[in-house]
Amino acid sequence: MSGLEGVVAAQTILSEVDGLAGRLIIRGHALDQLAGRWTFEQVVGLLLDGFFPDMPEDVSGALGAARVRVFAQVAGLDAVLAARPPVEAVRALMARLPDGDDLETALNLIAAPAVFTAAVLRAAGGEAPIAPDAALSHAPDTLRMMRGSAPSAGEAAALDTYLVTVCDHGLNASTFAARVVASTQAGLGSAVLAGISALKGPLHGGAPGPVIDMLDAIGEPQNARPWLEAALDRGERLMGFGHRIYRVRDPRADALKTAVRLLGRDSEGAAGRIAFAEAVEQAALAILRERKPDRPLETNVEFYTALLLEALGFAPSAFTCVFAMGRTAGWVAHAREQTAGGKLIRPQSLYVGPAPKAAA
Ligand code: COA
Repeated sequence: MSGLEGVVAAQTILSEVDGLAGRLIIRGHALDQLAGRWTFEQVVGLLLDGFFPDMPEDVSGALGAARVRVFAQVAGLDAVLAARPPVEAVRALMARLPDGDDLETALNLIAAPAVFTAAVLRAAGGEAPIAPDAALSHAPDTLRMMRGSAPSAGEAAALDTYLVTVCDHGLNASTFAARVVASTQAGLGSAVLAGISALKGPLHGGAPGPVIDMLDAIGEPQNARPWLEAALDRGERLMGFGHRIYRVRDPRADALKTAVRLLGRDSEGAAGRIAFAEAVEQAALAILRERKPDRPLETNVEFYTALLLEALGFAPSAFTCVFAMGRTAGWVAHAREQTAGGKLIRPQSLYVGPAPKAAA
């Protein structure tokens, strides 16, 4: 019963995580058929297909218009919020959006993490927010709003690949939280706020930051083996390796590794960092095989997420916000699927406390 492991709590047409085969299916497509091939907007259209009667043909234009609509809420980003961790500031701004169950609410919610993360990161650096450009695609506009200048085509493609890669992943903790709230018919905004609150925890979406800490602590490729051996001797886990469900390689790690390598072709600095990280990855996999020959411990999604988001210029403190930019599409689709089923999620608990004392 602990952690509901193995409990099936929903039927879904949205995604399947096959941990033994190392396969992720999103609405009938294997991840490797989508990542690097479909845009985020196309995958938003795929996830939401059939859940809204008025779904537009031009999802990119509709998402661009939603970015412009939600930008009005950036005025609520005061000094107090700007000083909070980015994911808390973004969540607070998300809470200012009107709740509802319609398409406009859905698109506002999917657009919002990108607009608010860019504004929050700029505010932390004392810079004014940059308004969205509705004519651009979601990924390049996100990087432009954050930096103030247009990203390269390769950078935009890398962020697009990341958003597609993390858009949905079965009944993970944040998606379950979103479905529980949706089942009360509280509205899509409430469901997404539940999702982002669950995602924020280090056991879920908060893990890639520590990968950067590990790489920085190792510093040079020749330090990798002694550093990793010493960490394991201290009983520590190697960040970015192992997974609760995948017993073989996490397919998302491969999708992101490909995207990171493409980024490396654009920049010498990024190429050097990637080569170093790959050396650390190889050393870690070799040591884990030596020490845990019976347990398959492979690279997980967080390892290459860390490298990709770092290369794109996101601060590690904002990595969870970028995760939310992609995963909100999944939360919204799951929330609609849950409400369409109409059933309130209300499990039972087993009381193991003391019995009331008999009256004297
Ligand atoms: N480094 C070293 N050893 C690891 C390890 C890692 N990253 N992940 C698992 N192990 C070992 C454990 O020490 C344990 O060894 P033991 O049986 O000798 O005690 C064994 O593998 C099983 O660990 P357990 O926690 O039961 O496995 P799990 O599959 O449920 O754990 C994670 C999944 C993700 C929590 C775990 O792999 C981990 O902590 N990884 C590092 C953090 C990380 O990258 N998180 C992001 C996940 S996407």
